[in-house]
Amino acid sequence: MYSRFACLYYSRTGQTKELMARLALLLGADLIEYSDGKERKGAFGYLRSAIDSYRKPPVVQIESLDRPLSSYEAVIIGMPVWAEMPCIVGKGLLAQYETRFPHTRYLLLTHMAKATYEKAIERLEETFFPFRRTLSVCTKEPVENRLLEDFAEKIRKDLEKKPKIETADENIHTEEKEKNS
Ligand SMILES: Cc1cc2nc3c(=O)[nH]c(=O)nc-3n(C[C@H](O)[C@H](O)[C@H](O)COP(=O)(O)O)c2cc1C
Repeated sequence: MYSRFACLYYSRTGQTKELMARLALLLGADLIEYSDGKERKGAFGYLRSAIDSYRKPPVVQIESLDRPLSSYEAVIIGMPVWAEMPCIVGKGLLAQYETRFPHTRYLLLTHMAKATYEKAIERLEETFFPFRRTLSVCTKEPVENRLLEDFAEKIRKDLEKKPKIETADENIHTEEKEKNS
């Protein structure tokens, strides 16, 4: 039996995986990895990922997921930033599964920089679809559980109430926002 939520993640070096696993635990969500199957570890993998980030259009084929996404009430999609944009593997997932996601989608974006990547998220939403909320997390320092607990709590509440606009919760390391779905 599936959970109400699915936490999907792509992770080259494990940071996004770790955060998504923590979030999945808080939500009681199914944790699902997605990938384009390409070897991206080490220096060569970094270079390959950097080069792929500038390819137009990005040539990424996501390996099939073993669970039907439409059976979930909401999906939380985790991906790292590459070259100032959500990574091409994440964008590949959105492109390939666009019509198969449930209506309620969340984004968790990880990055090294102490930035919020607001514009990059906006561009992602313009290209694909809006997210109900997004959480932008700097992984350079340990990420407090409070941040993930707060995000998980808001996700739970979203599904119990009508959509409404809420003031963005900002600090230099993270940014979370809520939208009308
Ligand atoms: C090719 C490449 C480009 C990256 N570009 C950026 C960037 O522009 N800004 C940033 O803050 N982090 C950048 N990063 C760092 C990752 O976003 C960050 O380390 C992330 O937390 C890694 O997540 P992961 O361990 O799940 O792969 C880049 C990483 C790679 C591999």
